[in-house]
Parts: sequence; C-alpha cells; structure tokens
Amino acid sequence: TLNNMTHLLPHKPDPIQLTQEEMKRVAAYRAADMVASGMVVGLGTGSTAAHFIDRLAELMHKGSLKGIIGIPTSLKTEAHAIKAGIPLSTLNSHPIVDISIDGADEVDPRFNLVKGRGGSLFREKMIEGASRKFVVIVDETKMVACLGGSGLSVPVEIVPFSWKYTLSKIENLFEDETGFSARLRVDQEKPFETDNGNYIIEMFFEKGVSGDLNEVSDRLLRLTGVIEHGMFLDMATNIVVAKNDGSVIILN
Ligand code: 5RP
Repeated sequence: TLNNMTHLLPHKPDPIQLTQEEMKRVAAYRAADMVASGMVVGLGTGSTAAHFIDRLAELMHKGSLKGIIGIPTSLKTEAHAIKAGIPLSTLNSHPIVDISIDGADEVDPRFNLVKGRGGSLFREKMIEGASRKFVVIVDETKMVACLGGSGLSVPVEIVPFSWKYTLSKIENLFEDETGFSARLRVDQEKPFETDNGNYIIEMFFEKGVSGDLNEVSDRLLRLTGVIEHGMFLDMATNIVVAKNDGSVIILN
C-alpha cells in the first residue's frame, strides 16, 4: 500500500521555523549590509537594534567596515556600543547622519511606525529624522494593518511637571474614541523615567489610531507638556522584514 511505501518517497526537509529572536537577528544582519565604510550611523535602541550593533562591531573588527561613527539613540545603546568598540559621536558634532538602523513596535502598510515601547522615542525621532536613510528592522509579527490596533500602547513622552494635567488633556483629545484609555508608564512602582528625565504616557486604542495620523500627531504635539509621541510618520525609507521561514523582504 501507499502507506508502507512512504519511506521510498524523496525526503522533504522540515520548513525552518525561526523564533522571534532569530528573526530579529536575521533582519539586523541584513541591514548591516546596507552600511558602508565612512558612514555616520544612527544606532537604534531595543533588542533588534542590539543585534545590529553586535553585527556592526563584528564587521568593523573584521576590517570589512572602516571609519564608522555611531550616534546612539539612548544611554543603553551608548553603553552597548562603547562595550562593542564602536566610536561614537553626537548629533551636535555630526548633524547629518548617513543611515539610521532601528527596530519598531509596529509598522503599517504606509511605513508609519509605532516606536518607543523601550522609552527612547525622543532621541530616536531626532536622530532618525536627521538621517538620509532610515532603515527599520523588524520580524514579521510587527507588521500591522493599523497603528495601535494590536492592543499595544502608543507612547507619549511628557514633562513630569503636572503630569496628571497633561494626562487629562490627552484623555480629552480622544474622548470620542470608543475604548480609548491612557495611563502613566510605571516601572517598579515608580513612574518610568526616560533618558531625558521625562515620563511616558501609554495610550491604548481599542481599534487602532483612527483618522488622519498627521492631524492626530499635530493635536498631541500642541498640548503643553507633551515632548514627543511614538508615531513615526513618513520617516522610514526602508523596512527589512524577517519571516519565520528564514527569508527576508526589503520594502522600499
Ligand atoms: C525603543 C524602540 C524599539 O525599537 C522598539 O520598542 C522595538 O523593540 P524590540 O526590537 O526590542 O522589539 O522603539 O524605544
């Protein structure tokens, strides 16, 4: 019978099933190939960006990349890059960045992003906004139809002074949005503090951020006390997406 003859059929290898961490590394390694010698490189923050920093350092130590200067987007990334032996500078000394490479929490079909669940959105937005090329490295689970629609938060960095007032202003802004909620990010029972000494408000949208995202952005930025938010609109130039079968797609 066919059943007891299956051992005679050609063996089909099991499809690769990468873990999320492996996908992050695959995307990061692919993006490292986009860096050329002599470039000023914006170094992102988070676990995916950490793989990129390791790979960049490896290519530099092997001699494949020379004359690289990194601009870190957070104190954590700065410490990592120093340990890895990457020479660093600041946006003040190098106001034009050739390429920035960073992860994201969400990517929508128009390349709009949610970033900052790691809390570094302000410095990321500043450095990535000053970059000729901004390459986003993600695993496929980060691709969404609508920002904020996956039930995760959209962060907003605010000044700590009268933070409750700023929070209530943010709540007022979205009072017509069903299922909207916002709260202060807390870390070990204390308000989470960013590298700039500010607080983070987490906004939750039941059905994702609706309407014109640029308008939503403008309305948030007009509130006194708001420093920046984690929606990165029209900023990414390339998205490197690693899939769990081990393949990589580059969206331009
Ligand atoms: C930090 C960020 C990160 O890029 C984002 O949170 C993704 O992190 P990870 O690569 O660990 O999934 O914006 O502020």
